[in-house]
Amino acid sequence: MNNEINSNDLLSLCRRRGFVWPSFELYGGVAGMFDYGPLGSNMRNNIVEVWRDIYRGREGFIEIDSETVNPREIFKASGHVDEFADLVTYCTKCEAASRADHLVKEFFDNPDVLSPKELDDAFVKFNVKCPECGGKLGPVEEFNLMFKTTIGRGSSRGGYLRPETAQGIFVNYLNLYRYNREKLPLGVIQTGRGYRNEISPRQGMIRMREFNMMEVELFVDPDDKSWSRFHEVENDLITLVPNTGTEAVTMTVGETVKKGIIANKVLAYFVYTTQQFLIRLGIDPKRLRFRQHLRDEMAHYAMDCWDAEVLLSLGWIEVTGIADRGCWDLSRHAEFSGTELTHFKKFDEPEERETDKVKAKHKALGPRFKDKAKSIAEMMEAKHPSDIRDGKLVLKLEDGEVILDSEFFEVVKVREKISGERVVPHVIEPSHGLDRIFYSVLEHAYTHDEKEDYTVLKLAPEIAPIKVGIFPLMEKDGLDTLALDMYKKVHSPSMEAYYDGSGTIGKRYARMDEIGTPWCITVDYESIEGPSKGTVTIRDRDTTAQKRIQADSVQEILRSLLSGGRFDDL
Ligand code: GLY
Repeated sequence: MNNEINSNDLLSLCRRRGFVWPSFELYGGVAGMFDYGPLGSNMRNNIVEVWRDIYRGREGFIEIDSETVNPREIFKASGHVDEFADLVTYCTKCEAASRADHLVKEFFDNPDVLSPKELDDAFVKFNVKCPECGGKLGPVEEFNLMFKTTIGRGSSRGGYLRPETAQGIFVNYLNLYRYNREKLPLGVIQTGRGYRNEISPRQGMIRMREFNMMEVELFVDPDDKSWSRFHEVENDLITLVPNTGTEAVTMTVGETVKKGIIANKVLAYFVYTTQQFLIRLGIDPKRLRFRQHLRDEMAHYAMDCWDAEVLLSLGWIEVTGIADRGCWDLSRHAEFSGTELTHFKKFDEPEERETDKVKAKHKALGPRFKDKAKSIAEMMEAKHPSDIRDGKLVLKLEDGEVILDSEFFEVVKVREKISGERVVPHVIEPSHGLDRIFYSVLEHAYTHDEKEDYTVLKLAPEIAPIKVGIFPLMEKDGLDTLALDMYKKVHSPSMEAYYDGSGTIGKRYARMDEIGTPWCITVDYESIEGPSKGTVTIRDRDTTAQKRIQADSVQEILRSLLSGGRFDDL
């Protein structure tokens, strides 16, 4: 048995059997773009359902679905317009574009922290040339990864295809907060497409230009990053590579927080949840680790970030990032939209505090605003001093906006009993790359017996695209009718079945093993006559063991196997 995986063998299986196909192949294809075929779509949906089971089911989070084309303002506020760039170099001879950090990865542990100047110097020092033609590389420059578009006719309103689904959640914060009855924690999930105009994608499904994400944005009290279920996981083990070294260490989740390796319990809990999720999908725990970003490697929005990395034929590959985004996103959207995005944190007991208040200068307001002065004063005094921008307050009146300067108000200190305070929630974000997870699961499930030239995909039953193959031993003597009837009874979106009557039974098993179908049922002559009449055989993919079971209990047996029942117990 050879488990050394050749990613080309796997990709060729994926194409041949309908997991994924290179997009636009008819027209020569486009690098970094893939379409999911029927088996791939099933399996991808099954992965999403496991994610939903954990986050919506176990954690009780809510799910939304927001737009993928967003106006420019959103990404100006989020920082992506200014910060979301990779460093690129163009060959001076053939003009091919390459990601500069990728060209020096054999010389540096973390090439993505190098500046353009350091990369230019590295090209000279290590004599790095264009990977396409061997030509001299040009100067390194920044390239924003977002796909630009326009919204509506002409270019009056610029927009971008979203590079992450997260912003759709942040800009809906007030709707979501109200929906959650103004309580924290507030957990929101979203799955959908993200778009990044990768410079030179060369790693198959690992670097796609249009990709699928499963993102979780958890809004928490900034002063209380604990988690009510932390005790359930604190004694479980996790393997980490902290940014203080390069060695992997294995310790309990509780220790990661006690030793200050993971900054808080909520982040540690969701790093561990990611481990549970990936292992449930079939990722080999021995080929999984969590690596902390270096400070200068972190995305512009992150205070701390741990990547779930999976060992593939391509090396260690990030499949999920679990970031503490702090108050970055809500503060920026509050600043850019002019709308407060906070949580009202009620104290256990009201507290007397000295606070700053906006106080109207009635003497100045009266002569200027006449009969409106009273209502303007009330509106001003309802504002918070943080609403004052450049010394001015903006009020929206029925007949338009009025901008007031310090001639009409002052900020005074008052002592008062307050029942709570407004805080900007912090965000903990487990962000999963669905396509990378999909591909990693396939690599870890792939087994190939060289001698027999036999492939088995050992997929976890809950994500296998087809759960059961149903065969008549021969397509005659009524065996085919019985098998087809059984197929019609069993087949449903949650119990995808496949009827196959052609070729030898061995070939039919092989076809199912190759796509990871966990069980096969065969209707044979014993099913219709003799002492075993009314029974069929069921075969287990991983052991190839077979048992006879009652034909009329097939549905119940499959359901029990799918929910974790043991084949040996049948
Ligand atoms: N939202 C996380 C990311 O874009 O990677």
